Amino acid sequence: MKTAWTPDSWRKFPVVQMPDYPDQEKLKTVEARLAGFPPLVFAGEARKLKKSLARVAEGRGFLLQGGDCAESFAEHSADNIRDFFRVFLQMAVVLTFAGKQPVVKVGRIAGQFAKPRSSPTEVIDGVEYPIYRGDIVNAPEATMEGRVPDPERQIMAYRQSAATMNLLRAFAQGGYANLENVHKWTLGFLKDSPAFEQYQDLADRISETLGFMRACGITAETAPQLRATDFYTSHEALLLGYEQALTRVDSTSGDWYATSGHMLWIGDRTRQPDHAHIEFCRGVKNPIGLKCGPTLKADELIRLIDLLNPQNEPGRLTLIARFGADKVEKHLPDLVRAVKREGRVVVWSCDPMHGNTIKSTSGYKTRPFDSILKEVRSFMAVHRAEGTHAGGIHVEMTGKDVTECTGGLRALRDEDLNDRYHTFCDPRLNAAQALELSFLVAEEIKKELALRPRLDDDAVEAAE
Ligand code: PEP
Ligand code: CO
Repeated sequence: MKTAWTPDSWRKFPVVQMPDYPDQEKLKTVEARLAGFPPLVFAGEARKLKKSLARVAEGRGFLLQGGDCAESFAEHSADNIRDFFRVFLQMAVVLTFAGKQPVVKVGRIAGQFAKPRSSPTEVIDGVEYPIYRGDIVNAPEATMEGRVPDPERQIMAYRQSAATMNLLRAFAQGGYANLENVHKWTLGFLKDSPAFEQYQDLADRISETLGFMRACGITAETAPQLRATDFYTSHEALLLGYEQALTRVDSTSGDWYATSGHMLWIGDRTRQPDHAHIEFCRGVKNPIGLKCGPTLKADELIRLIDLLNPQNEPGRLTLIARFGADKVEKHLPDLVRAVKREGRVVVWSCDPMHGNTIKSTSGYKTRPFDSILKEVRSFMAVHRAEGTHAGGIHVEMTGKDVTECTGGLRALRDEDLNDRYHTFCDPRLNAAQALELSFLVAEEIKKELALRPRLDDDAVEAAE
């Protein structure tokens, strides 16, 4: 039976993956301070994102969601944020052109700090330490002291999120996101990377289109759409005390919104229908993501949809499939069919990262580029077969030239992983691999487009 929702009603439910803070008094003080801090995002922005996602759910858009597995205090710099944003925009342009539909841009950034873990401890050099749960909880360095959950870290995470958000807003609105620039970066990249020649054709067609538009007088100076972009933030809503402290009533609608980021998602380990994470997320009005892994059955998914989106509001719910390259065909069709049969409106997105993590022979956690690509391709093929829209991808990536995932056109090998393995948690696509993936996904999107009559956007727009 459902009880009344309040920002703290989750506290009465069983909960997993939350840290045990030894100093409860300090935790309370920190949560009270956070509750007095300004929101990081506004309800109106979350509503705008929901509207854009509603278009994706209707098959008229594509969601690009990506960023770090875990943001870190040590790597908080303007360079990192800029390099991520840059390659993310490049990917978005490629996907927009291929799909001839808007790409909704949502970063895993400005709040993606808390991590669910498979085991509560780890053994390093024979010593058993509490596991690292993300910089918002404890320290990545393996010391007994550093691994104790420290509430003060929530304040640091909040401040880092605010600074990151500030720079992202400036980049998105202040001219850096200018479409012509973004495309020039891609051309520069292709020129310097002979192996990428196969993508030159698509890039040339974007150049031609921009040239034609310029000739017609449509430039970044004359058209605001070309010089600015909407960019949104998202993270896993794992640390519920922090989320609760930043949950506020929107004065316009009287509704509750999480103001720690525009979109929140529920992880594959914390999606039990009668547990705290679902309880918290059901009450905030933001767009919500739900990770769907191999253990999720169709009837349970429908139950979760009932809880999270009882009004069947388009744009509210994004289902993020993360099965593993070889498991998509086994698991996804059942879920897609159930959702369709029950008439639920959702965005289907593909996380090709979390089901494809392996231990390399060199000992590093890695993900082969081929498995990542295979998962996306299978995901898209299932949707083509079911007549549903493959609505997006969700990736772990960075703008830096790290060596964490193997493969790609530059053919990173196991023995290269040691060079620049920087991640604090899961292996990310580097800038070249991320851009390459977008070109390959673009080809898949074209296959879906070829299967259906083009929606006449003008007619749809006029009817809205
Ligand atoms: C993640 O997105 O970082 C994550 C932990 O995913 P999942 O819940 O799907 O395992
Ligand atoms: Co991860």
